Amino acid sequence: MSLRCLITAGPTREFFDPVRYISNPSSGKMGFALAESAQRQGWVVDLVHGPVAIKPPAGVNAHAVVTCEEMYAVCGPLFSECDLLIMCAAVCDMRPKIRAEGKVKKGDLSMTVEFEPTRDILKTLSAARRPEQTLVGFAAETDDVENYARKKLEAKNLDWIVANSVAKGGAFESDTNKVSLIGRAGEHLSFGPDSKAAVADWIIEQIAKLP
Ligand code: C5P
Repeated sequence: MSLRCLITAGPTREFFDPVRYISNPSSGKMGFALAESAQRQGWVVDLVHGPVAIKPPAGVNAHAVVTCEEMYAVCGPLFSECDLLIMCAAVCDMRPKIRAEGKVKKGDLSMTVEFEPTRDILKTLSAARRPEQTLVGFAAETDDVENYARKKLEAKNLDWIVANSVAKGGAFESDTNKVSLIGRAGEHLSFGPDSKAAVADWIIEQIAKLP
């Protein structure tokens, strides 16, 4: 029986009225490259992705979502069936407290938007993990990348975290990436800079080496 892999990719959006939102410039390229690579290496792949301009790779089960809560709702049942989760999505960490029912009028410049945290999808899923599942997170940081990445690995109870620098715009919309793979047992491997396809192949190969 084939092993199942759940991969998330791209940004999420959080709205303060029906037509306006906050988000980030994630292109989804890294997550889509991981999905393509995993599928080629024999995994059955579910790809849950936010709004992106690229097409899902052929042969993967793609699920399009918009907000953090939608991503969580789709990931929940897929997570319980999967052997490997790679949470590559740039989930919006905050959302407006109020979403106006109608479009806010152009002249309403006195408007103040208050934010609240969104759900940490990875932390919520990892709290219900089975020991034999492999969980991989991404840490995009502007400074002290590896230190913050290691903290996230522990806080989110992961097996691996992929650390990359997004200083000066960094990896977000680029076709290349340079990453470190930091493991629970203190492993520290580096790869790149190289194409996101090559980085994806390398990450999947390293993770598949796990017992
Ligand atoms: O945003 P942060 O740096 O904490 O992201 C680290 C990891 O947590 C990433 O793998 C990201 O996909 C995941 N995450 C999440 N839900 C959030 C924020 C981040 O699953 N609300």
